[in-house]
Amino acid sequence: MILAPNTAVGIDDVALHVPKLFISTLGEFAEARGIEPAKLARGIGVEKMAVPDAHEDAATMAASSVLELMKRNDLSPEEVGRIYIGTESGVDEAKAIGTYVIGMLERVYGPGSFQECSTVEFKSACIAATFALENAAYWLRVEGMEEENGEGDEEGYEDSSRRGGRVGIVVATDIARYDLNSPGEYTQGAGSVALLVKRNPRLMVLDPVMGVFTRDENDFFRPIGMKCAVVNGKYSNLCYLAAMDGAFYSYKKRVLGRGMIRLADDECTSDHLSHIIFHIPYPRMAEYAAASIFQREWRDLPRWRTIEEEMGPEPKSEDFEGQKEYLLAEGDYKRRFSKSGKFLEAYGRKVKPSTLISSVVGNIYTGSIYLGLASLLEQDLLVPGTRIGLGSYGSGCSAAFFSGVVGEGVESMAKGKFLKTLNERVEIGLADYQLLHEGEKNESVISPSGEFALVEIEGDGYRRYDFVV
Ligand code: HMG
Repeated sequence: MILAPNTAVGIDDVALHVPKLFISTLGEFAEARGIEPAKLARGIGVEKMAVPDAHEDAATMAASSVLELMKRNDLSPEEVGRIYIGTESGVDEAKAIGTYVIGMLERVYGPGSFQECSTVEFKSACIAATFALENAAYWLRVEGMEEENGEGDEEGYEDSSRRGGRVGIVVATDIARYDLNSPGEYTQGAGSVALLVKRNPRLMVLDPVMGVFTRDENDFFRPIGMKCAVVNGKYSNLCYLAAMDGAFYSYKKRVLGRGMIRLADDECTSDHLSHIIFHIPYPRMAEYAAASIFQREWRDLPRWRTIEEEMGPEPKSEDFEGQKEYLLAEGDYKRRFSKSGKFLEAYGRKVKPSTLISSVVGNIYTGSIYLGLASLLEQDLLVPGTRIGLGSYGSGCSAAFFSGVVGEGVESMAKGKFLKTLNERVEIGLADYQLLHEGEKNESVISPSGEFALVEIEGDGYRRYDFVV
């Protein structure tokens, strides 16, 4: 079989689902934890965190985002060839979460309607959905070739071929949960993102290049049976930055090597990315990542003179007596760089707009980077023909840096609707939040209506879901 590497494949649409409940980090929560609200609003960047109700879990949220995606794109089940799900909040150690999701969807579309759709659960902390996306794109390229060669046009398949071939759906679904009263607690959240992956997509054509970085780390993990993650918080920030740096330079080597990006003398790779969306465990982390990449990218360019005029030259190890003194000076310089006018201008333009939804939803782990994409779409900031970069990170740890070119079709897509939905959510107090967190609230705060719900966990652990009208 001859593959078609140049087939334009990518993300056509993004549908989001977040729980109806949220807790404000700035009021009762901050007071109870003895934290200044300004630290959470500015130092962390999170003002509200989504809280799943008693009838919600990673499977119900996934089914809800897929249903939203299918409805608004008028997709029928036989057009969907793959549902790949990235999650670290799986509901079973063996059974793929996607089989529960398909079971729920068939309550709407009819029994057996998804039987020719395969589903796999990807686990790789917060980077899982990115690897699911990469795999869905590979599948589509191969599937496209088979269709072009006239293979696979069996009965019932013709219709979808006429409409441009089968599609894949990549779902990111997670509940970020840390111990009560821990420093991780104010970086929680919950939600799901469903990406429609197809040929000739409206939103973004994926570039055929991905830079990756992998290293065995203990920054964040959740041994089997534990409800909350074990996290070495400050160390996890360092692992994220080191891995992102590695993945970005792996990406850079490849795009420059292939001539996909050509640099003038006073340019660097990130100049060619109109926006960069980083994994957003909390918005401030995206700022640290941007500072780290821009500092390394800019230091050999004429613009660095402006930085040095503002802050003096970067510390050099040979000017210090010991390694510790040098590292302290370097850390201080980094902090000052991240407050420099030139950095803040580039960050505000290229990176900050992607953190909008995360600041009022919190961390949704593997979906967070795609909340970033949705943030740009909702604010109508995606310009056809421009290239955007995406830096994905998963603890443990791996990072991937990749890019895509915004499609013309983005102009016809609806914008701003999800931001309105976020304003319609219901705020809960600390007492309800804590009961839900500990799994001690049996009744839902808001009874499910017009949505998927977990209705029972049977004696053997099998979960019963329903679509509650
Ligand atoms: P912390 O103890 O709150 O950190 O932990 P901090 O005390 O250093 O404060 C954070 C910032 O707030 C600092 O800013 C303070 O100065 C500032 P900086 O100095 O860095 O510029 N601050 C204030 N700002 C304004 N007004 C004030 C004020 N006071 C202080 N009054 C930490 C933060 C993120 C470590 C913690 O919340 C945590 O452990 N979170 C969970 C782990 C995490 O999110 N790690 C991120 C990287 S790993 C990752 O992204 C993967 C992950 O998504 C999981 C996966 O892959 O599956 C987590």
